Amino acid sequence: MTERLEDIAAAMVAPGKGILAADESSGTIKKRFDTIGVESTEDNRRDYREMLFRADDAMQNCISGVILFDETLRQKAVDGTPLVKLISDAGAVPGIKVDAGAKPLAGFDGETVTEGLDGLRDRLNEYYGLGARFAKWRGVISISDDLPTGYAVEANAHALARYAALCQEAGIVPIVEPEVLMDGEPGDHSIDRCYEVTEAVLRSVFNALYDADVLLEGMVLKPNMVIDGKAKRTASVEEVAEKTLRCLKSTVPAAVPGIAFLSGGQSDEEATAHLSAMNAMGDLPWALTFSYGRALQAAALQAWSGKTENVAAAQRAFSHRARMNGLAAMGDWKADLEKAA
Ligand code: 13P
Repeated sequence: MTERLEDIAAAMVAPGKGILAADESSGTIKKRFDTIGVESTEDNRRDYREMLFRADDAMQNCISGVILFDETLRQKAVDGTPLVKLISDAGAVPGIKVDAGAKPLAGFDGETVTEGLDGLRDRLNEYYGLGARFAKWRGVISISDDLPTGYAVEANAHALARYAALCQEAGIVPIVEPEVLMDGEPGDHSIDRCYEVTEAVLRSVFNALYDADVLLEGMVLKPNMVIDGKAKRTASVEEVAEKTLRCLKSTVPAAVPGIAFLSGGQSDEEATAHLSAMNAMGDLPWALTFSYGRALQAAALQAWSGKTENVAAAQRAFSHRARMNGLAAMGDWKADLEKAA
């Protein structure tokens, strides 16, 4: 019996829960492991992810779904249990990154288009068989005085829409992720410039989704927040929250069940504070939660540092972050909860 897309999407944005983005590609996980001096071998990647997925407190109470990379979807824990089963046994939905990465857009210096549509139908059917019930595709938009170009925005929106339609055909909920970079080059843009670009990108994406006949009730949007560039962060929590909500309310139809933000280079606590402030403002047409990679994993990665004896401490670090973000998804996070831990 196939589950309805609407029900899977609702589970992904259930109250007080959010998504763990653990879908770092081989290149990205190597960069993360380099920061803790751990070699990126298949076993080390398995051990790290097994540590996360066995953090019961986080997984059972705060995590609604986990985005995996192809390798992880096929991996087994040390005791032979498929990692996918650890996730579903914890009550979370397994998901899969299906894009093949952002590649230079020919003729458009400094811009990219995300690849991976060729053969996607067959891959989605295989992933469904392996247990994935949602997928992720990330389009990347660079921002500067001159970028993005309209062409790069349209090319990425078009790819996202084709991907989303293929997912739904396969019974898989698409996470549609158009990321306007906060940490790209030069990264000194204002929050209002980010607003203008994010608004244009979301309009283009929802036009493309409409043209592709994508069921809005059966998708989750994963956007950036409206925030100033990493090289000159000054906007307050209230300004980020207020401008992000205004931008989303004017572009994202109420038929979309939920919005799960990326963290994009924000510090752990910034990402939590912003999400909580938005939920505390209330009166939202969609669920608003997290789909963080770095902002959920950074503390756990440091605590783990590749050592078996650190597994429990790393799981505590992950569970703390997950709990803080779970509270933020309800608008209930307070800064002193960080110190209490
Ligand atoms: P960050 O939260 O680290 O930005 O990662 C989320 C993600 O999945 C980006 O595609």
